[in-house]
Amino acid sequence: TIRCESSTDNSSTHSTDTFELANICWDDLGFGLVETDYMYVMKCSNDGNFSKGELVRFGNIELSPSSGVLNYGQGLFEGLKAYRKKDGSILMFRPEENALRMRMGAERMCMPAPTVAQFVEAVKLTILENKRWVPPAGKGSLYIRPLLIGSGATLYPSPAPEFTFLVYVSPVGNYFKEGLAPINLVVENEYHRATPGGTGGIKAIGNYASALKPQSAAKAKGYSDVLYLDSVHKRYLEEVSSCNVFVVKGRKITTPEIRGTILPGITRKSIIDVARKQDFQVEERLIPVEELLEADEVFCTGTAVVVSPVGSVTYLGKRITFGDNGVGVVAQQLYSSLTSLQMGLTEDRMGWTVAL
Ligand code: COI
Repeated sequence: TIRCESSTDNSSTHSTDTFELANICWDDLGFGLVETDYMYVMKCSNDGNFSKGELVRFGNIELSPSSGVLNYGQGLFEGLKAYRKKDGSILMFRPEENALRMRMGAERMCMPAPTVAQFVEAVKLTILENKRWVPPAGKGSLYIRPLLIGSGATLYPSPAPEFTFLVYVSPVGNYFKEGLAPINLVVENEYHRATPGGTGGIKAIGNYASALKPQSAAKAKGYSDVLYLDSVHKRYLEEVSSCNVFVVKGRKITTPEIRGTILPGITRKSIIDVARKQDFQVEERLIPVEELLEADEVFCTGTAVVVSPVGSVTYLGKRITFGDNGVGVVAQQLYSSLTSLQMGLTEDRMGWTVAL
């Protein structure tokens, strides 16, 4: 836990509301685990139904060395955020979308999944039980991490005999160390994130392990992350290790279409809708990597990264820069619109936020 030398005040007041805050340094949050108080655990065995979920103290879990998740990677995760408003109240962002995406992934991974109602209720209870960890307005958000794993033992590679749905949370700040400053990407020419028919379109835990090697190599060379191309033609943009990508040219915004190898991001989907409302023309289609040469701006979207401007993309040794390496105006505008809505600073005409 990060502790602030000077932080003694662990409560905040605003108008009539008082709320308790954990005693940590809220200005220092990055995207790292800060252990909180409770997690939610719900199990499912043979009948395929989850039941009797409960909140337990956050801590280690016990698994058979032969569990499906440890041996065969039968696991999915989700990520969503909750924000605190100035009056102390808390807003979740589109939790049903994460529930639906987990259900879609579970079908691909031969796992039973919680219903949308069970998922949303679990998320809600976990946030409420950890509410002192939701950062004060403007200092970050509470990142919620639901997991669905084959927790039962199986030596033979078959679906596990027991599944565990678990939700834990951590307060977070910016994902990239650059903060909101533009990041520098490099096009990955050797490794691929996904193949047609594979699991790139779901949040399978293994997708993220296989991205570690190219990502570490890019970081060692000073880049923030890699930009993947499709594995068949090695030509069309796919996504970054942990976020979707958008390309801006005038009033036109394009993003790779969802066709099994790209994660259907909830921030991606939200940004498409917000941009259309602001009269941008948004196209979801194949984007040849050469189109980057013509782009005015490039930005990434994701729950963790929110909207992250891209300052440059290096492709086959050539560095393509966007704007003056500053935050693009379109990325800035969409970031502001989305985050004001998520934080409850503007009226939510989309019906995306859920008050706790
Ligand atoms: C998210 O944006 O929530 C993700 O799941 C990406 C993860 C690698 C942090």
